[in-house]
Amino acid sequence: MTTENTQVSYDTLIPNNVGLVSDRRVLKGLEQWHPEFLNWWRDMGPDGFQNVPVYLRTAVSVDRDGWAQFGYVKMPDYRWGILLAPRIEDRTIGFGRYLGEPVWQDVPGEQRATLRRLIVIQGDTEPASVEQQRHLGKTAPSLYDLRNLFQVNVEEARHLWAMVYLLHKYFGLDGREEAQELLRRRSGDSNSPRLLGAFNEATPDWLSFFMFTFFTDRDGKMQLESLAQSGFDPLARTTRFMLTEEAHHMFVGQSGIARIVERTCSAMLENGLRDPYDIERTRALGVIDLPTVQRKLNFHFSVSLDLFGSEISTNAAGFFDSGIKGRYHETGIEDDHQLITATYLVLKLEQGHIKSVATAAMPALNARLRDDYERECARGVDRWNTIIRKADIPFTLSLPHVAFSRTVGEFAGIHTDPQGHILADDEWDQQKHRFLPTTDDEAYLNSLMTQVLAPGEFAPWIAPPGRPIDNKSADFRYVRLNS
Ligand SMILES: [Fe+2]
Ligand SMILES: [Fe+2]
Repeated sequence: MTTENTQVSYDTLIPNNVGLVSDRRVLKGLEQWHPEFLNWWRDMGPDGFQNVPVYLRTAVSVDRDGWAQFGYVKMPDYRWGILLAPRIEDRTIGFGRYLGEPVWQDVPGEQRATLRRLIVIQGDTEPASVEQQRHLGKTAPSLYDLRNLFQVNVEEARHLWAMVYLLHKYFGLDGREEAQELLRRRSGDSNSPRLLGAFNEATPDWLSFFMFTFFTDRDGKMQLESLAQSGFDPLARTTRFMLTEEAHHMFVGQSGIARIVERTCSAMLENGLRDPYDIERTRALGVIDLPTVQRKLNFHFSVSLDLFGSEISTNAAGFFDSGIKGRYHETGIEDDHQLITATYLVLKLEQGHIKSVATAAMPALNARLRDDYERECARGVDRWNTIIRKADIPFTLSLPHVAFSRTVGEFAGIHTDPQGHILADDEWDQQKHRFLPTTDDEAYLNSLMTQVLAPGEFAPWIAPPGRPIDNKSADFRYVRLNS
């Protein structure tokens, strides 16, 4: 690994380690895009809090140690930069038809349309999540959580910058047009929605936010991991650095749910309540009952699974074969990295039964990535269950079956319960309120969402964090409201 380009240059309006100062065409294009981005941020970014200093980290280097600096900044002044992980000398393509050939520093002509599409889809998710989360500041359960929300938001916006840089730099006029479209689409807008389903769903409360960062951001992580393997080196380097920031988003989700579960369990214990299904008494304590947590989990997991696309996909095969998108941890996999004769077990619907079927491996790469994702999610769920077990409450959170409540792929046409038993339409209608959040659940959650902004205080439905951000004291003013 070379050390060149690890330092970020701040002499242009846009901090970067890609030598923008001497790349006039791209610099000019991005400088024109910048005010439009700021307009978008003001219109669609966090509602309120735009003029108060927030204790945020900013990426200042792509060095593994010390890449970020913490300090107070007003969000519109955040230094959104363009940062690529250091170039790896003599890197070769690690999979597919061009295995072993040098990676591309430019876009090969025949891959142009495909690469542009992938970059646009990735890019579209970044501002979408900021839009989905824009009202959450009004109901933040603490200053600590408010700060974490804004950290996620500014970093998703930086990821938008990352994709826009690639569009401007490598895709000429149509790339610039796509970059503008990224600011025009709106999450949930019926005329001009964001490109993927999960990114048009509402994030109405903080349980949804934590579920989103745990499940939906993690889909993003899996996609970034696959793109980090890409034969198109600038894309690989960009996504590699984005993963550094993404780790914090996963942490926000994992720890957010853990704190909710912890608070529920301790409130139940303090009040001599051990029956997790005694919803009325649990809710009377002002905490979130575990069955509601499970229903929210069911919703967010199944919506996020849809993001992986169809289990069997000629597109996915093409991305792999042509060196554009690898597998999760491709370099660590011990096989020929070409998958010409390999098979992979995929869950399919056959004659009304869900069966595991050996399938050609290359077209099954979406299913494979989804399996990797499911394994990672399950590890997180285990950690939440440890908290419930310690409290000795007879309840176990679990991931629903991959066939549950799907709108994309093999199981889109059927209904199942969370265990994967197929249900007839009328059975589904009768039972779905047990599986997915009900209007009553949403109303209850909504009733809990009141803003808590006194330093060191937390809403009664969530426990304080185990460790503060940047080793600050428990009552640190993460957001300076009156300064
Ligand atoms: Fe992101
Ligand atoms: Fe993220």
